[in-house]
Amino acid sequence: MKKNVPLIIGNWKLNPVTLSEAASLASGVVTKLKKETEALVVVAPSFIHLQEVKKKISKSLIELAAQDVYSKNIGAHTGEVSILQLKDLGVSMVIVGHSERRAMGETNKEVCQKVVTILAQKITPVVCVGESERDDQGNFFTFVEEQLRSLSEVLDTTQIKKVVIAYEPIWAIGTGNTATNEDVKEMQLFIETVLTKLYDRNTAKKVKLIYGGSVKAHNAAELYKEGGMSGFLVGGASLKAEEFSEIVKACK
Ligand code: PGA
Repeated sequence: MKKNVPLIIGNWKLNPVTLSEAASLASGVVTKLKKETEALVVVAPSFIHLQEVKKKISKSLIELAAQDVYSKNIGAHTGEVSILQLKDLGVSMVIVGHSERRAMGETNKEVCQKVVTILAQKITPVVCVGESERDDQGNFFTFVEEQLRSLSEVLDTTQIKKVVIAYEPIWAIGTGNTATNEDVKEMQLFIETVLTKLYDRNTAKKVKLIYGGSVKAHNAAELYKEGGMSGFLVGGASLKAEEFSEIVKACK
């Protein structure tokens, strides 16, 4: 994963309702960003819309991501979706450990199992980390460090370089309370320091870090310039093709 190319992922979550709305959102993104070559743009629709969205983006440079995956590849697992199925659909990235899934009980251990399964298929995992609240003592740093440490228990140096880490403070997601540029910069340096401790400096520098949490068209340029991250994971603002494209264009 090239670190100098900004990565902007639109996480559509449980939106929109109909297939035709998903298709037209995808077409809108393609229209707005078809000339975009300076950033890697990825959309993550819900499972059921992946195939249709894939068709809409097929003639563009935009890539497809899934919002989650199951850790087993095949067999008696009712209701699950495997990485082999996602690979067959042309997915190139998978978001894992999003706080909305961790809130449903997903553990660091399960996140790690999924990451290993995804990497085995040469697909890029986008691992979300981030604290639920900030405290004056800085305990939230320890929380993020623990999430990173669990990854280091299953991934070697070669593997961690293929992972994208999305720092998404839970208090900033969907709230409009975007982290400040300074908060984001501080966390970028902290994550690199932790990865240096867990691996080495060269490896830490190669892991792509992105930020998510109320990224909007009006704050993207500053956050990108000052925050030190290599891109964004965008929720709400990715549901409007115009605003999403402005965010992408702000990453210069
Ligand atoms: P938001 O969501 O941009 O709506 O805050 C980000 C995310 O959950 O990935």
